[in-house]
Amino acid sequence: MGEGGPRSGSDEGSHFRLNRRSLLAAPLALAACDRFASAQTPAPEAAPLKSLAPFPIGATGMTGQLSDAVWVAQMRRHVSQLTPEWELKPERILQPDFTCDFSASDRIVDWGREQGMRIHGHTLVWYSQGQQAFNDDLPRARFASEYDRYVSTVAGRYRGRMAGWDVVNEPVAEDGDGLRDCHFSRALGQEGYIVRAFEQARGADPEAVLFLNEYNLENIPKKGATFLRLVERLLTLGAPVGGIGAQSHLDIEIPAGQITAFMRDAASLGLPIHVSELDFSLRSDSPLDTRSLGQKRAQQVARVGELAEAFFALPERQRYAFTTWGLRDTDSWLVREDGRGWRDESPLLLDAQGRANPAYQAVAAAFRA
Ligand code: G3I
Repeated sequence: MGEGGPRSGSDEGSHFRLNRRSLLAAPLALAACDRFASAQTPAPEAAPLKSLAPFPIGATGMTGQLSDAVWVAQMRRHVSQLTPEWELKPERILQPDFTCDFSASDRIVDWGREQGMRIHGHTLVWYSQGQQAFNDDLPRARFASEYDRYVSTVAGRYRGRMAGWDVVNEPVAEDGDGLRDCHFSRALGQEGYIVRAFEQARGADPEAVLFLNEYNLENIPKKGATFLRLVERLLTLGAPVGGIGAQSHLDIEIPAGQITAFMRDAASLGLPIHVSELDFSLRSDSPLDTRSLGQKRAQQVARVGELAEAFFALPERQRYAFTTWGLRDTDSWLVREDGRGWRDESPLLLDAQGRANPAYQAVAAAFRA
């Protein structure tokens, strides 16, 4: 403690003054030491996420991150499953002449497997991609044959190396009122393109768990209900749907209990469930949101905790994986310049330095229950 400590002295008075001054100074000194100490010893790294749960903990990764030694170390520390953020999508693989470029997808899949991670494939068919090759002018027979070939070629290439695939991504209309119209539905039918994709994927990879993946299922109850009815319909049609992917891009508008209600309804189908793209924005659509930042952050953490509790409450066989869309805040598409570029969102479980955000604590508490 240096000069501030009490010292013995001949003059009682001065001794008292010395003690009194020391006593007054001590808290300030301690605080200064503490600040100094804290400046020297940053908060500890968060305990490995994968050590918190008896099921796979996932995060996204991209080939552009493989040269980042810090990111690589954090991924190895925290996750047991990798979802390539874009390299397995049509936008990266499918060429305008229906040939496939697997250079990036092979690299990220190989990397993940070299780390001992399970790989989750995202995504074979997505309404928002593939329009250039699969356009409305393509003769329908050629469209169908190229569609089958694309799905079976990609799924077949990674046969035996994928724990699961998002076979079809985001098939439900934005507001939950029916299914999306897209180049695939116009050519093969609104349910037809989905059934066809699952059948081709199953034929190409008999082992992978085949998921239907969607967002806003918890945020918009109508959309969640439409999605679950679609899963049931697809199963009735004989489509080998093997899992439900809830992207879980949460927001601070979701009322308490709504996430739990969706997870309960989803669980009733008896299929494995993947929290597939968890992140949690602080943004509010409401122009009159008068909540303080603290209140918004409390809501953010509460909803993440509710999701983790609802997932943890699932039967073990239905807990496929709990995946965040990025590992650290700065990895999030919500924060990245090539994404939304939003600041101060704190949208993931770990901060930029790999330390636990409050949401991490909420998840850890849920998984300890
Ligand atoms: O890294 C390449 C760069 O090398 C290249 O020069 C550039 C040229 O376009 O592309 C860069 O890749 C971009 C990639 O993100 C990595 O930054 C792609 O263009 C861009 O399209 C891609 O965006 C991804 C987006 O899906 C579209 O695929 C985002 O990273 C990804 O976070 C986002 O994820 C989606 C899920 O797939 C589905 N659910 C919603 C979620 C968020 O939108």
